[in-house]
Amino acid sequence: MLPIHFAPLQGHTDDVYRRTHYHLIGGIQRYYTPFVRVEAGDIRSKDRRDIDPKNNLEVPVTPQIIFKSTKEFAFLTDEIATQGYHTIDLNMGCPFPLQTRHGRGSGLLAHPDIVAEVASIIKERTELSFSVKMRLGWDNAEEWMPVMEILNDTPLTHITLHPRTGTQQYKGFIDHEAFGRVYEVSRHPVLYNGDLTTIGQLHEMEERYPHLGGLMIGRALLARPSLAREYVEGRELSHAEQVEILCTLHHKLMEEYANIVKGDAQLHSKMRTYWEYAEPLIGHKAYKKIMKSGNLRNYLAAVSELKD
Ligand SMILES: Cc1cc2nc3c(=O)[nH]c(=O)nc-3n(C[C@H](O)[C@H](O)[C@H](O)COP(=O)(O)O)c2cc1C
Repeated sequence: MLPIHFAPLQGHTDDVYRRTHYHLIGGIQRYYTPFVRVEAGDIRSKDRRDIDPKNNLEVPVTPQIIFKSTKEFAFLTDEIATQGYHTIDLNMGCPFPLQTRHGRGSGLLAHPDIVAEVASIIKERTELSFSVKMRLGWDNAEEWMPVMEILNDTPLTHITLHPRTGTQQYKGFIDHEAFGRVYEVSRHPVLYNGDLTTIGQLHEMEERYPHLGGLMIGRALLARPSLAREYVEGRELSHAEQVEILCTLHHKLMEEYANIVKGDAQLHSKMRTYWEYAEPLIGHKAYKKIMKSGNLRNYLAAVSELKD
């Protein structure tokens, strides 16, 4: 059985979601915060809230940072270490042009010189454990090669690889052959990430890569929050049971967000995003009804129909 890591998903897996998922459902070895970045010389207050240890009590969570230089890296690392964290995940995979055009996320893969400078700081910060989440490259599926040479010589707990390039975003061909090469070459445990949706696929990955460090799942866990628990416990739930768990998590989240966001319109908009990836589980008709609900009242009526 491989450990399952919950992928960071900006706009979805915030502190409230991670905490609620962990306590209500489980099956996850580690959660990651969506990437924390430097904006106008500081960390946004929203991100500070997300990494505040008070909001992450008991939850096994690693803050993730995105950076374009050793200056940003050092600033974010210091800020996170000050909060008492001992693990930090480095984002070298984000494909959003807003980040990559400044050389952050997968944009960093085209700059092995900066990766090497960051690696030398990592070697000095022996009190911290770092991991890397990366792609094959920004627009070239071979960019990982010089970067891996540096990473192999850097102390890391693991590398998570999403075997696409940045320009592919989250769709299209997944390069399993290239994943296999990274898996062979890496001196660190490698976690596979990308398009895993069924328990059968999780078992296939175990067989295909016997020395895998784990699996990271994102969108499929948003749609089916019990997926990791079902895999870990070796008991696949019926469709009705999966929907039941999705709804229970939804109700708990709604209770939590109602204390944080102001007014019905904001609460509706926040809760609506919760269903963005749920179509495979709830079906097209129910999905459309929730997405087009327009206000909180219609929304709640559409959600309550799921269990009919
Ligand atoms: C809406 C959205 C937000 C994301 N935010 C982050 C992020 O903050 N940090 C990160 O490393 N990856 C982020 N990702 C990528 C996911 O962590 C993951 O690598 C990707 O969804 C592929 O895994 P999956 O097919 O299991 O969903 C994001 C993906 C999506 C769709």
